[in-house]
Amino acid sequence: MLTPAAIGILLASVVASAAGSDVLHFETTPNGFNAPPRGWNSFGLQALSPPLNFEQESVISQCDALADNLGKYGYEYCSLDSGWSIGDHGDENGRIDYDSSKFDIPALANHLHGKKLKLGVYILPGYFSKDKDKQIYGTNPPVKLSDVGTGECDGLARCAFDYTKPAAQKYCNSVVDQFASWGVDFIKLDFITPGSPDNNAGLPADSSGSVICYHKAIAQNGRKMRLDISWKLERNDTYYSIWKNNLLKFENSADSMRVDQDINNSNQPTLTSWKTVQRTIEQYRQYISLQVPKGQPLTIYPDMDNLFVGNKASLTGLSDGQRQTVMTHWIGAAANLILGSDMTKLDSLGLSLLTNTRAQDVAKFTASYPMRPLEGNNNNMKGSPKQIWIAGPDPTTGVAVIVLANYGASGDNSLFDPAPAGGKQELKFALKDFGLSQDSYCVKDTWNPKNDRNVTCTETISVSLDDGESRLWKVVPQTGRNAGGNTTNTWSRTGSIKPTASPL
Ligand SMILES: *[C@@H]1O[C@H](CO)[C@@H](O)[C@H](O)[C@H]1NC(C)=O
Ligand SMILES: *[C@@H]1O[C@H](CO)[C@@H](O)[C@H](O)[C@H]1NC(C)=O
Ligand SMILES: *[C@@H]1O[C@H](CO)[C@@H](O)[C@H](O)[C@H]1NC(C)=O
Ligand SMILES: *[C@@H]1O[C@H](CO)[C@@H](O)[C@H](O)[C@H]1NC(C)=O
Repeated sequence: MLTPAAIGILLASVVASAAGSDVLHFETTPNGFNAPPRGWNSFGLQALSPPLNFEQESVISQCDALADNLGKYGYEYCSLDSGWSIGDHGDENGRIDYDSSKFDIPALANHLHGKKLKLGVYILPGYFSKDKDKQIYGTNPPVKLSDVGTGECDGLARCAFDYTKPAAQKYCNSVVDQFASWGVDFIKLDFITPGSPDNNAGLPADSSGSVICYHKAIAQNGRKMRLDISWKLERNDTYYSIWKNNLLKFENSADSMRVDQDINNSNQPTLTSWKTVQRTIEQYRQYISLQVPKGQPLTIYPDMDNLFVGNKASLTGLSDGQRQTVMTHWIGAAANLILGSDMTKLDSLGLSLLTNTRAQDVAKFTASYPMRPLEGNNNNMKGSPKQIWIAGPDPTTGVAVIVLANYGASGDNSLFDPAPAGGKQELKFALKDFGLSQDSYCVKDTWNPKNDRNVTCTETISVSLDDGESRLWKVVPQTGRNAGGNTTNTWSRTGSIKPTASPL
């Protein structure tokens, strides 16, 4: 247990590091992670028409392909979405149980671990209404589930816990302990309120207690597990501090949180559409714009939902240029790189986007310094069709990452202000406009190394981008800069392009 003095020191160091730097950065997440997860999740294929036959063998063939093609690049989570567990009741103690007509979870975990993969499962908050009279595992004298409920039940066959009652925590512990005994490494906790759209499910108004409950359950079990919370969560300070807080490690919370609704394309033959992707990119802009002015380190990674870049255009529903823009954005934001693609049908572009050495290097950088919007950010509720983002600079090395994008006329134009004109768009700037302070930089174009070049900080750079096209640059200060070897790397908002949107 942390003493109050130790907490004071922790708080003081966080305040000091925030005060000393204007640069948005990540620190370790509540369950001890320093990078977003990578892997695959079944939902995209479950929602496709025709859908994946969701059972052990089809999941194994997807995850074996994940291991074979991407395992050595850190794509390690094989994550089951809704449908792996029995939908309306738990085991004899009300614990979430697998649907044994489709899955043998311990055997699946064993198989995946043998391939150096990790297993993810999907759960909802609360207990099953049918289980109300069952005894919570390990309670003596026995406590029934309904003894620690609030009496509120929803349309998803669940009832809410009163998390002030200690036996409610015992229930979360019993679920997580059983998951751990099966070999589970990742939990996606869905339909968390406030924030998740109700969709006539009659959700309880506030299930944030379940996030704390499952975090504590993971902590008490000791198995290393990630907790991902879903879906579009409330962002105000009251709730954001619950989702992200890692200061009091025994009190809170999650490692990644969704910033938007699903990137689904219900019952279509394509996995997504550009319009839906644009919506999520805009939600990331709004989410991160709220965090920048706080000057606080981030301790929760953004989950922008499944990454749909692995398959050809006719299956993904995005052009090749749009697929590259998606990969650029997900890397720039340090979002979960959890694919929704068909892993058995990766094409050569998909493989290269997912494994490119330079992109891996940029992802390592953004896992510490995520991108935030600069130009194109002057309206709280609508981004501009042309946007510029910056990550860093790292105060020690001066390295920064820049994303340039033209979100295009295709898709949902009502997201943009002004509505995009369509066609090619020109971006003209100098690096000093972004507040970078060194004399000269090498601009490394992640996806097109032949475009690398050295530029001075004041030199005009001109980039022409097609609809839906983007650039992902790493900019590296050149040695001998600022004669006298001044290595102070500042980002002082002194550039002519500044984040202009006020907090939402
Ligand atoms: C935060 O959001 C919740 C639910 O949306 C609301 O009830 C609460 O008043 C908000 N709190 C603040 C400080 O805005
Ligand atoms: C995604 O799923 C939700 C909920 O089922 C549905 O309302 C929505 O229309 C779907 N979106 C798309 C683009 O298919
Ligand atoms: C940039 O300058 C450095 C140092 O002079 C040089 O080594 C490097 O090759 C140059 N890069 C490009 C792309 O011109
Ligand atoms: C180094 O450069 C920074 C930014 O240009 C400047 O503020 C600082 O005074 C310089 N320090 C020295 C020792 O020259």
